[in-house]
Amino acid sequence: MNRFSPRFALIAGLLLGALITLAATTALTSRRPEATQVGELTRAAAGVPVLEAIRNRRTVRAFKPEPVPEEDLMAILEAAHFAATAGNQQPWKFLVVRDRETLDRLEREALDWYMENVRSSEGAAQRDLEETRSGAQQYLEHSLSAPVYVALLVDREARYPDYIVYDGSLAAGNLMLAARALGYGTAFFTSFFPEQEMREFFNIPARYQLICFTPIGVPQEWPPTPEKKDLYELVVFESF
Ligand SMILES: Cc1cc2nc3c(=O)[nH]c(=O)nc-3n(C[C@H](O)[C@H](O)[C@H](O)COP(=O)(O)O)c2cc1C
Repeated sequence: MNRFSPRFALIAGLLLGALITLAATTALTSRRPEATQVGELTRAAAGVPVLEAIRNRRTVRAFKPEPVPEEDLMAILEAAHFAATAGNQQPWKFLVVRDRETLDRLEREALDWYMENVRSSEGAAQRDLEETRSGAQQYLEHSLSAPVYVALLVDREARYPDYIVYDGSLAAGNLMLAARALGYGTAFFTSFFPEQEMREFFNIPARYQLICFTPIGVPQEWPPTPEKKDLYELVVFESF
């Protein structure tokens, strides 16, 4: 058969058409949510800065002393400010703490708060208090080594008080992601910084509720990603 005969051209055309249809179907199918694999999400995130920041954010508990420039800090707080809130109520106060002496004093006091709590808890008699104290001291020394902290507060007197914890948590999420995008580590600290003691320490008015105490700084190192559940354990399509 002549290579360039009309019959050959027809067969080649049909084959090419089939190939294009197959490629298009595969591309469309892989975009369906049902077909999304954990690995595919990784590929989809590559090169999309916000998705990379989400995937690479880590809780950081030890920092270098390098300062965070004011410009970066304000960009991070602006991201928190742009979070969604119930009825656009924006019930936040961002208490920024940078004074090293204050942070060192907080470290000592937080250790006392913690040990007080341990001593008055059930089972205190069975614990090695010296060992507990030394572990907590190490945790606090590292956790309070960042140059900047934000006590993220929400206003109980806001218009929709039932929603202030959601509003606060969404702002904290934005803050942590913006910081990550700019190369900083953060954390969502709660347990070593109890609300009542923090209120007295920082003179926080009673109307504000503490959501978290969050460091911002250059990590000593980026921790590895802790084990995350398989996405398919968490996703339900359409209905239970
Ligand atoms: C509501 C909440 C409370 C948390 N409290 C603390 C805390 O008190 N101390 C701490 O070191 N980390 C705290 N974390 C951080 C978690 O331990 C951390 O997010 C989790 O281990 C997953 O690690 P990753 O953030 O690197 O993905 C808290 C996180 C959340 C969301």
